Amino acid sequence: SFYACIPAGGSGTRLWPLSRRDAPKFLHRLGSDERSLLQLTMARIEPLVDPAQTFIVCGGAHVAAIARQIPQLPGENFLVEPGPRNSGPAIGLAAAVIEAREPDAIIGSFPADHLISVGDAFRSAVRTAIRVAQTGKLVTLGITPTRPETGYGYIKCGPSLGIDNALEVLSFKEKPAREVAEQYVLSGEYVWNAGMFVCRARDVMDQIRQRAPELADGLMRIAKLWLTDNAAAHDLLGEIWPGLPSISFDHAVMEGAADDGRVATVPCDMGWSDIGDWDTVAEMGIAEGSRLAQPKETLLIDSPGSFATSASGRAVTVIGVPDVVVVETSTAILVARRSDAQRVKEAVEEWTSRG
Ligand code: GDD
Ligand code: MG
Repeated sequence: SFYACIPAGGSGTRLWPLSRRDAPKFLHRLGSDERSLLQLTMARIEPLVDPAQTFIVCGGAHVAAIARQIPQLPGENFLVEPGPRNSGPAIGLAAAVIEAREPDAIIGSFPADHLISVGDAFRSAVRTAIRVAQTGKLVTLGITPTRPETGYGYIKCGPSLGIDNALEVLSFKEKPAREVAEQYVLSGEYVWNAGMFVCRARDVMDQIRQRAPELADGLMRIAKLWLTDNAAAHDLLGEIWPGLPSISFDHAVMEGAADDGRVATVPCDMGWSDIGDWDTVAEMGIAEGSRLAQPKETLLIDSPGSFATSASGRAVTVIGVPDVVVVETSTAILVARRSDAQRVKEAVEEWTSRG
């Protein structure tokens, strides 16, 4: 059967002042849709997988807010981390728990904080990925690159696997240097890794056992106990977690698995964005047909290329200022040129140092 895992971590400071440590990006809505990114993620996968077979991996500070937003998720499907350890342990924990329950199950891992405007294209790609995963591959979803982004994983595509449009993967390079990314994009042989993975539970655990044994033992001990005693398993999690290395799933598993010919990709055009900064949010908001549009409490007059959002509900107005983002919350206001979107982290550092 099919299970879903939703890793929900990271503080997303590049989307300050909306995204904060106590209220990260996935809890917020970013456009005219009333739902948060997390709620949109859940809605997107619900036609594929029962909430009873959906697990969320998150920090203790966010459990209550998450439970309020997606009440359909059973309480015992929360895997609660004592502290952030990056995506390797997070996805690994869900995989271990699902393997303990049903080793041949297929798992799909879907980040809580991405936007996908064409849900049908997403689900059709996942269905293909499930079929490919049944052959023993770890399957990624591939996005045609449009710029030499250094924050993504790059997948070198190989020949067809004969299942729909799925391709073999020749190599996987996580977050390459700028010049390398430029070469990859120019070559036309690479797709971006969308950060979603579909694989059989025991296949991904075999990879973790082989490539990250320092993770595997602890995760399997927690998972085994989790089957019989949820509370005791969370106690054990509290003991084991601080000793686990902080490592991304991509570095821990995917790069090596690809070198061994164990990875496949399903290229897919689904209007995907991981909305890493306000420039990207503006892009999505302005793009025609995108799910994300200007929220109704904002008004832009003669301000082409600009995007405004209001978290408190106050009426935000921009007149005659092109290519800016204006972000309003009850405690902070950001006004920035879109081309300076990356510099939000300078503001976060400065405000943090002022205490
Ligand atoms: N529970 C939990 N705990 N989840 C975490 C943690 C953690 O400590 N750290 C990260 N995550 C979750 C994030 O919330 C996200 O859903 C997923 O794991 C990936 O982590 P990111 O930190 O967002 O990774 P990234 O964006 O730098 O890179 C990944 O996504 C790119 C596409 O957006 C990689 O998979 C790249 O290869 C990919 O291109
Ligand atoms: Mg991300």
